[in-house]
Amino acid sequence: MINRTKSPAVEQVFSKTVVELIAAKRDGHSLSPDEIETLIREFQQGGLADYQMTAFLMAVFFRGLSDDETAALTQSMLHSGSVLDLSSVPGIKVDKHSTGGVGDKVSLCLAPLVAACGVPVPMVSGRGLGHTGGTLDKLEAIPGFRTDLSVAKFAEIVRDVGVCMIGQTREIAPADKRIYALRDVTATVECIPLIVASILSKKLAEGIDALVLDVKVGRGAFMKDVDQARKLAHALVRVATQSGKRAVALLTDMNTPLGLAVGNSNETREAFEVLCGGGPADLIECTLALGAEMLMVGGKASSLEDARARLSLALKSGDAVRVMEKMVAAQGGDARVVAEPWRLELAPEVAVIEADRSGVVVDIDPLEIGLAAVAIGAGRTRADQAVDWGVGIELEKRVGDSVAPGEPLARLRGRDKAAGEAIAERVRRAIQIGKGPAHVGQLVIDRIEL
Ligand code: URA
Repeated sequence: MINRTKSPAVEQVFSKTVVELIAAKRDGHSLSPDEIETLIREFQQGGLADYQMTAFLMAVFFRGLSDDETAALTQSMLHSGSVLDLSSVPGIKVDKHSTGGVGDKVSLCLAPLVAACGVPVPMVSGRGLGHTGGTLDKLEAIPGFRTDLSVAKFAEIVRDVGVCMIGQTREIAPADKRIYALRDVTATVECIPLIVASILSKKLAEGIDALVLDVKVGRGAFMKDVDQARKLAHALVRVATQSGKRAVALLTDMNTPLGLAVGNSNETREAFEVLCGGGPADLIECTLALGAEMLMVGGKASSLEDARARLSLALKSGDAVRVMEKMVAAQGGDARVVAEPWRLELAPEVAVIEADRSGVVVDIDPLEIGLAAVAIGAGRTRADQAVDWGVGIELEKRVGDSVAPGEPLARLRGRDKAAGEAIAERVRRAIQIGKGPAHVGQLVIDRIEL
């Protein structure tokens, strides 16, 4: 078969046409790194149409990719744009990536905390999409805070402060952006090698030396099933290692929201409470578990116990708060909000969800809570939508807590009381009261390292 979109120059260099490469994958054959590179380059240069890329993605969905092929796809997507050069920043640069969950504001307390312990953290974050929130939206709840810095400014802040948190620029892995948009509308998102190449192509473009991955698993996560999440975590660690980076993954529970706040300003407040020495126990534990791994791969601790002790000291001494204040100021924001989180604006309370009987909270469905937060305006269902930073949900009870009739279970913040009442019903249905005892799962389910 002849590929009519292919340029003669490419025909001379590579023996197979792009159509033959798609057919090879369709028939279950392996592709060489050069062949994968050709597909991505042709896609970027217009020699491979969207419908051909979609056919290739569907072939991968059914036939899979080996680690070598996944590593080659990662490298090709990574080099479709610029790779940041942070060689001017001394030290082992480490970032964390979470596959996303409800109430997951860990990056906001983790990044400055780890930087306060001497590990430089260059962090390029994303926005919320669907029922899971995004770090950028939570950061932008800080008055004046800018996430659209130039690469030079980003490197300067990482060097001077130890941490900088920005959004994905147009130069970072542009092939992933186009491929992800196609996957989103062609039922090819749920495919481990494609997820691995997508995540790692963006993370490796940050100029990091090591990566800690938080693979969330459960009803509120992208991966609902532990075996699938474990497979994803293993593949991420293997391919990151093959790409020359140290990598560790934790599998963490997302069968209930993380922390009590779900929204943007309220989540930023909660993350800053952790930095100030408070905050909910599960959020603190998730932060310390990931932080300890970052200190280990960053060469700043001799064991996980030593790392935890250093992190706790940085919280107690106020060092972590000071680093975050410096970062917020360097990025144009009002640094007072870090030590005084109440300064972050919240929308008025429009509904209180109360217990209708006595008992024990046996379940809080994170997916339903996440969707209710989107419905009130804290999230988006399309990438171009704006979010309202002040709205959201604040849980008053956790799984395992006893409740009496009339006690508040959650509060809803919004701009419209009538809309709030309808959404409150959804929150009420997400919180189950039973006789108990409640099953409270382990937060860290597994740890994956090569
Ligand atoms: N997150 C990404 O960045 N890419 C995927 O494919 C899935 C989740």
